[in-house]
Amino acid sequence: MNSAFPAAVRELTMTRPDDWHLHVRDGEALRTVVPHTAAQFGRAIIMPNLRPPVTTAAQAVAYRQRIRAGVPAGMKFEPLMTLYLTDNLAADEIKRARDAGVVAVKLYPAGATTHSDAGVTDLRKTYKALEAMQREGLLLLLHGEVTAPEIDLFDREAVFIETQLIPLRRDFPELKIVFEHITTREAAQYVRDADRFLGATITAHHLLYNRNALFAGGLRPHYYCLPVLKREVHRIALVDAATSGNCRFFLGTDSAPHPARLKENASGCAGCYTAHAAIELYAEAFDAVGAINQLEVFASFNGADFYGLPRNQERITLKKESWRSPGSFVFGEAELKPLRAGEILAWKLETVASP
Ligand code: DOR
Ligand code: ZN
Repeated sequence: MNSAFPAAVRELTMTRPDDWHLHVRDGEALRTVVPHTAAQFGRAIIMPNLRPPVTTAAQAVAYRQRIRAGVPAGMKFEPLMTLYLTDNLAADEIKRARDAGVVAVKLYPAGATTHSDAGVTDLRKTYKALEAMQREGLLLLLHGEVTAPEIDLFDREAVFIETQLIPLRRDFPELKIVFEHITTREAAQYVRDADRFLGATITAHHLLYNRNALFAGGLRPHYYCLPVLKREVHRIALVDAATSGNCRFFLGTDSAPHPARLKENASGCAGCYTAHAAIELYAEAFDAVGAINQLEVFASFNGADFYGLPRNQERITLKKESWRSPGSFVFGEAELKPLRAGEILAWKLETVASP
């Protein structure tokens, strides 16, 4: 064989991945989406932006029970719980949360995205809670966008780094922070240059698409999420970061289901649903740049290591084999349309095997 042109990889067996950023909602909706994630991932960090938000340890524990009840028999899946940071989250609650097994607290700047109206209005108001988190070893997960209306939507992440993240890290140098769903070259660079207390998740859709996808032949609501898709230079920077092997970058789908009628709407809500084919979409993005062999580090090692949790023992096998994604799923009373609904996907998850 000519070694300059190695045979393309068509099959990959690797450690079972985890999803470090996931929305599963509640009630009937949860029954649809939890099985999709549990079929692929060993664990997932569960976002707390329910209505009302998950702000107490007791609520997190009850929510964890409802999620566990939604895992189909025979599937092994562990939800990792988070609290929703508000201006009033008490330091005592952090201690109770840690004792209940909650691993992190999510910061939504008020008004930044779906169900963020109870979010933080001023970081200073959260300093007692952040001190407690630094002490108790809970991670801080950031929706890293400023919300000031005068800041251009496409600049909100870069401005967040300068005005919020830099001072925050100076004030809490030993607080572990995850900069969630990064979307820009600036964020990738900032995380790469930071110390071991900062990591970042990257979604499959930000690796696969740039902002043209939102307007391809018409307005495409199923590509609308927050932070919004950016220019191609940013997508390329994210692919470089994800495939680099750098331990600061890890998988977080930000799979965010909404009823189709609320996305296909005059004021469509933000969120791409990718859980039905998450690892396949990442495989496609990695394979597109000849980096499928870096997928395991990004998807199965870096996140667990950053959170200080053991890596999964099970293995999965992915094959390069076309299949058609379902067009929609039943979602309680509504319909859920995934990203790439009814389209061909290049990779397929074949098996999840116990050690
Ligand atoms: O697009 C998004 N959808 N971004 C978020 O930050 C929240 C999420 C959701 O909950 O729907
Ligand atoms: Zn999210």
